[in-house]
Amino acid sequence: MTSSAPQAVRERLRIAVQKSGRLGDPARALLAACGLAWSESRDRLYCFGETLPIDLLLVRDDDIPALIAEGVCDLGIVGRNVLLEQSGATTLREWRPLGFGACRLAVAIPERWEWEGPRSLSGRRIATSYPALLSAWLADNAVEAQVITLSGSVEIAPRLGTADAICDLVSTGATLESNQLRAVETILESEAVLAGPTAPFGDARAAIADLLVRRLDGVLRARQSKLVMFQAERGALPALLDLLPDADAPTVARMDGSDRLALQALCRGAMTWQRLEALKCAGADMLMVLPIERTLA
Ligand code: PRP
Ligand code: ZN
Repeated sequence: MTSSAPQAVRERLRIAVQKSGRLGDPARALLAACGLAWSESRDRLYCFGETLPIDLLLVRDDDIPALIAEGVCDLGIVGRNVLLEQSGATTLREWRPLGFGACRLAVAIPERWEWEGPRSLSGRRIATSYPALLSAWLADNAVEAQVITLSGSVEIAPRLGTADAICDLVSTGATLESNQLRAVETILESEAVLAGPTAPFGDARAAIADLLVRRLDGVLRARQSKLVMFQAERGALPALLDLLPDADAPTVARMDGSDRLALQALCRGAMTWQRLEALKCAGADMLMVLPIERTLA
């Protein structure tokens, strides 16, 4: 890995995306929601951007940080866990968290073990595909343990007798459970992120990346938000607004010839049935919750 990326002038942006696996499809769906469409090459590893000068290279997730650092790709969509594991000495950073692929990197031990905190790992063998992140965490906790690096099937190492504990990604917890392991410490909360160089692009790619990030922000904001609309008597307004602490600048309008108000607000939190029922009890009528298609700030 070189520390200074080649500075070839380029007029198209190339994004590395996982070819198969958990992040690949949602990553492409997110980019499609930003208005991107592609034609695929015959080997399906390269997607040529038709609507914008943004192409995709479909690769193994573990290769993404190096592809960006070496200047082969300009940006990448990758798990924060992979980015941090590999970005120790490079010039990459997380540009945006993307709101999907949530998981955590956790230390897990056999169910029958007694856990007395990180010191329980002292002198033990821990299998992981994340040796850098695990070693840093062990050092932070002043624990000396043996880190055993495996590229996959980490969860069976304790049963095979090649390790005492593991440090691996946990999403639903099903893998740990079926291997009689339990998570005891979270080392990192992870999700898919847009990764890119720390230095700005010095050519046409800067404007393209800017446009992409603005659209991404709009899509992510829209995905998180709902438009809530209702009517109420004027006197109920303070209590109703108390129930909407996540409302972005609510609009209140007086309805013609009455003391009733019509209110609409963009809410960032979840609009559960319980919340709607609480609004109803506080005097909201004709409640409606609408999805947001797009926003542009
Ligand atoms: C990850 C991880 C665990 C599993 C955890 O593997 O290594 O094996 O997911 O998920 P769960 O808590 O929902 O069971 P992944 O399927 O991404 O494949 P990989 O290990 O080959 O990268
Ligand atoms: Zn993987």
